[in-house]
Amino acid sequence: MASAAQAITATAAQLAEVGIDTAHYDARLLVAEVLGVEMRRLPSFHHAELSEAEAAALAVMLARRLDREPMSHILGRRGFWTIELRVTADTLDPRPDTETLVEAVLAALDDRGRARRLLDLGTGTGCILLALLSELGHATGLGVDASEAALEVAQANAGSLGLADRARFVLGDWGKEQDGLFDVIVSNPPYIPDGEIDGLEPEVARYEPRSALAGGPDGLDCYRALIPDIARLLAPGGIAALEVGEGQAAEVSALLAAAGLPGARVARDLGGIDRCVIVRRSSEP
Ligand SMILES: C[S@@+](CC[C@H](N)C(=O)[O-])C[C@H]1O[C@@H](n2cnc3c(N)ncnc32)[C@H](O)[C@@H]1O
Repeated sequence: MASAAQAITATAAQLAEVGIDTAHYDARLLVAEVLGVEMRRLPSFHHAELSEAEAAALAVMLARRLDREPMSHILGRRGFWTIELRVTADTLDPRPDTETLVEAVLAALDDRGRARRLLDLGTGTGCILLALLSELGHATGLGVDASEAALEVAQANAGSLGLADRARFVLGDWGKEQDGLFDVIVSNPPYIPDGEIDGLEPEVARYEPRSALAGGPDGLDCYRALIPDIARLLAPGGIAALEVGEGQAAEVSALLAAAGLPGARVARDLGGIDRCVIVRRSSEP
């Protein structure tokens, strides 16, 4: 039987051969998973021999990864912000870029301890809503999605994070079925132009739900559909924040302005790309 260190080297080599950029990192994660240890503790296990069952489990996971299945699907989880989320084939894999939106919203709020109503349109795993609720101890939130399967995942995530008493998840078409006013409305809608999806990396094109990716011919269809809902549901003085794809910030800001929400500003992700459009509704009637 191979030691953990040998298993990492062999696994990484196979992953690199099919062109996976994160081969060594993924190999370490997979070996840590079969050993049932946290990745940071791996060095203490380098000389440990994998049992037959562990080697067999590694082989199964490696085959899935070689087929370009995302690590989050294989492990069933993904770290996002400061929380860990369950992820399935029915949900978008939460992206580090989306943390830009969480950060922008938190920076725009004056008093984090205030009671607020949050609305997340297209909640997926619930990542944005749950990250915000984890920071805003007196806020409550509603997550809407058109996918029942995604909502089950979001509900389970709220439960495991101890946020189920402040988070509710409902099936819906953006905000169409909602009423009342919300202090914060967030959304990371599908925004990939339909014609570009098949050219994306296999992890995305083959494994992520198309309903979480496809934004119509120019990628902006979902913004056109949901911005009127935001305009209707955002409270005076409230904040709306939308994740956008590269090059979409100006057009999305214009759609917000046309719906009565002018003055949006843009937050950049760590790669320097305009990633989030954020606007505050005037508190004047
Ligand atoms: C890009 S994913 C974002 C998921 C999650 N908020 C995140 O940031 O990882 C978009 C989500 O919008 C949902 N969605 C698509 N069309 C919708 C609609 N008409 N109404 C509500 N949700 C919709 C998809 O099911 C998917 O979960």
